[in-house]
Amino acid sequence: MNKLTMDKLVALCKGRGIIFAGSEIYGGMGNTWDYGPVGVEIKNNIKRAWWKRFVQESENSFGVDAAILMNSRVWDASGHTASFSDPKMDCKKCKSRMRADTLISAHAKGAVNPDTMSNEEMQEYIAKHKLVCPKCGNCDWTPIRQFNLMFETSRGVTDENQNKIYLRPETAQGEFVNFLSIQRSMRAKVPFGIAQVGKAFRNEVTPGNFIFRTIEFEQMEHQQFCKEDDSSAFYSQYKEKAMNFLLDIGFAPEHLRFKDHDKLAHYAKAACDIQYLYPMGWEELNGIHNRGAYDLSRHQEYSGKSMLYTDPFNGEKYVPNVVEYSIGADRLMLAVLCEAYCEEELEGGDVRSILKLHPALAAYKVAVLPLQKNLSDAAKPLYERLKKRFMTAYDDAGSIGKRYRRQDEIGTPFCVTIDFDTLENETVTIRERDNMQQKRVSIDEAEKIIEESLRV
Ligand code: GAP
Repeated sequence: MNKLTMDKLVALCKGRGIIFAGSEIYGGMGNTWDYGPVGVEIKNNIKRAWWKRFVQESENSFGVDAAILMNSRVWDASGHTASFSDPKMDCKKCKSRMRADTLISAHAKGAVNPDTMSNEEMQEYIAKHKLVCPKCGNCDWTPIRQFNLMFETSRGVTDENQNKIYLRPETAQGEFVNFLSIQRSMRAKVPFGIAQVGKAFRNEVTPGNFIFRTIEFEQMEHQQFCKEDDSSAFYSQYKEKAMNFLLDIGFAPEHLRFKDHDKLAHYAKAACDIQYLYPMGWEELNGIHNRGAYDLSRHQEYSGKSMLYTDPFNGEKYVPNVVEYSIGADRLMLAVLCEAYCEEELEGGDVRSILKLHPALAAYKVAVLPLQKNLSDAAKPLYERLKKRFMTAYDDAGSIGKRYRRQDEIGTPFCVTIDFDTLENETVTIRERDNMQQKRVSIDEAEKIIEESLRV
């Protein structure tokens, strides 16, 4: 059937209450998106599934919810104030600001890797290949300069008393700065992990690709604190764990691949991404990083607080190493939607669009649909019963075929239909989204079928 394009996905998301353009009635605001009633449920389910796997079901893993606004020394220690920047240049004609590395990647299609090029080399490449501004088509650029990606704000009640602070560009530092508090309060023994799900902000300029790269997004990060000797084993373990999580929530293995980083940070021992085959090609979905003792050592240096951990068995003292696993909730949401979307031709030539979401991720687990409007009174008590247990939709308007299509489009895995037999024998028909098969079952059985489908 027709290939999924980003335009098609954006239109579906808008039309079905999944994702809307941010501040739309004011003409929008670049790279911001609002999650609608259906989208917020899917995204919450993604975050819940991730938390279940990486906190609830992971031994020695602890959650945290740190403040977005942190002492600005945190960002000096992490290196973000000095070097969290992108190479950007301005089009002299239309004044659009562009990332030089993104333009080169789009043109070179893998022939060169801008991550390994200096600003001068990128500038030469752009001039030699006459790369034009995607907005106005001219090739007249300012020199490339590094622009810090952190959003600045200030705190203080009077103008004279203002201190520069930042909206956090990653959640990871909230895990690092709480290492000591969590280790002590939870009596945690290394190796242990700290996980966090929360908002991060980056002043990104790359346009397009929907929620792939936005200026405000959520990250789901897990830091594994360990001994240096164990860090390679944890790195391999987290690669496998991250991949298994994606497979278990419904991704096809052929749409995922590992990609080692071409360039490592000076402190890193290994780093890779898992990439997903998005409609625009293979792109990063998440990162896994063996970061050595860099993070805690830097916080030790900048805060003056000792980050030494004492092994309770042999008294050995060391600054723990970190293996980081980091994934964007919005970027995963985009991949989940792309993976789930399909179109099927039905008998008679009609096409149905379906979001084949894992039931655990679907916004509504079930929709209650009276076959006819005059069965609404009989259907309402069932809706009341099911909604106590599951996110349940109710729809009695329009033909039953159209109501099924609507639920298919938002990924509801089951529809329960009330008909005249229900009045006689308290049975319902349960229809499965993916194969459209219907079964007549008792209400208890319907609940059991729904419940069992939700396991990840
Ligand atoms: N603490 C490590 C870190 O932040 P990163 O590779 O910059 O590493 C981790 O980000 C993940 O966060 C990415 O793999 C991606 O899923 C997501 N992410 C990063 N920047 C993003 C953006 N501007 N919009 C949406 N998601 C983003």
